[in-house]
Amino acid sequence: MLRSRAVGIGSSAPDTVLPNADLEELVETSDEWIATRTGIRKRHLLKEGEGVTDLAISASNKALKLAGVDGADIDLVVMATSSPDDMFGDACVVANSVGAKSAVAFDLTAACSGFLFALVTASQFIHSGTYKKCLVIGADALSRWVDWDDRNSCILFGDGAGAMVLEAAEGDDTAGLLGFSLHSDGGGHKSLTLGYDGEERKLGDKYAVTKGRYGSLGMEGREVYKFATREVPRVLTEALDNAGMGVEDVDWLLLHQANIRIMETVASRLGLPMDKVITNLAEYGNTSAGSIPLALDEAVRSGKVKSGDVIACAGFGAGLSWGAAVIRW
Ligand code: ACO
Repeated sequence: MLRSRAVGIGSSAPDTVLPNADLEELVETSDEWIATRTGIRKRHLLKEGEGVTDLAISASNKALKLAGVDGADIDLVVMATSSPDDMFGDACVVANSVGAKSAVAFDLTAACSGFLFALVTASQFIHSGTYKKCLVIGADALSRWVDWDDRNSCILFGDGAGAMVLEAAEGDDTAGLLGFSLHSDGGGHKSLTLGYDGEERKLGDKYAVTKGRYGSLGMEGREVYKFATREVPRVLTEALDNAGMGVEDVDWLLLHQANIRIMETVASRLGLPMDKVITNLAEYGNTSAGSIPLALDEAVRSGKVKSGDVIACAGFGAGLSWGAAVIRW
């Protein structure tokens, strides 16, 4: 079987930074409460005139450069996002901008699990021999969906993007995506929502449609917390099993950057020390589909993650959806 190997990574976040202290002026909260309960100290926010595609293009160009791959050689672009600039999809615009003119490109929505699901999806095209080079992007600006008057949720989210270049690792069974496991459960859907709401618009006497817009992100924080700490250790164990590996083989644990207490609980349940956990949550908050590649990019560029290291990644979020992937860098 052909394996998909990650050969480049890049990330991008907006320049505007909102520290916890400035959130104290918007809602009844404190830097101390946010830092203690979540581990978040700041978040980066898009400003007017900036878009999710700008972040995705910047992250993708950095990933292509690190990989030494020309955009023109990319066969497939998958962009995970729940906050596109255009609801019809951003992937085609990004592909065009990075020179991936002959690639097929599409968006994929799986909220905070989006990057994990996109990584596995693109890898299947490589595993089947259909495509040789893929660009996988996770990019979100949940600042667009957050209710900035709701202290339960507005403190958590920030904007950011990451991108990964995958190649077929022919004949090398030790490289790339070694195992994965994905799940979803619509029974838990109400814990994280971003619903469409509209009013009836009559079309003459016989017909009517519903015209409206998407509302604000709704979240039952405690339910999401319980779901994540229950399912993430389980799905990581499944992905490791599928890779023929155990926890002792893991060099780095990289979870969706939602809450440091979730990371501590998952690491402890797996028996992994916190110095094996990759996190940049303090700087960016929860960047949804952007969080895993954004954290991995920083860990690779700082020299923390080295060639050959085994990284156990897990994403979780709305759907409910969750998944894990074991990657050899
Ligand atoms: N500042 C101060 N006090 C607050 C704040 C705030 N920002 N937010 C809530 N509180 C208060 C509550 O009102 C409550 O007060 P009460 O006891 O008087 O009722 C108290 O703090 C405790 O609230 P809890 O909700 O129990 O706090 P908890 O310790 O559970 O932390 C948190 C809340 C941080 C949201 C946590 O539950 C969490 O991280 N959950 C997971 C959320 C998550 O990961 N969401 C993203 C999913 S990804 C996706 O797909 C979008």
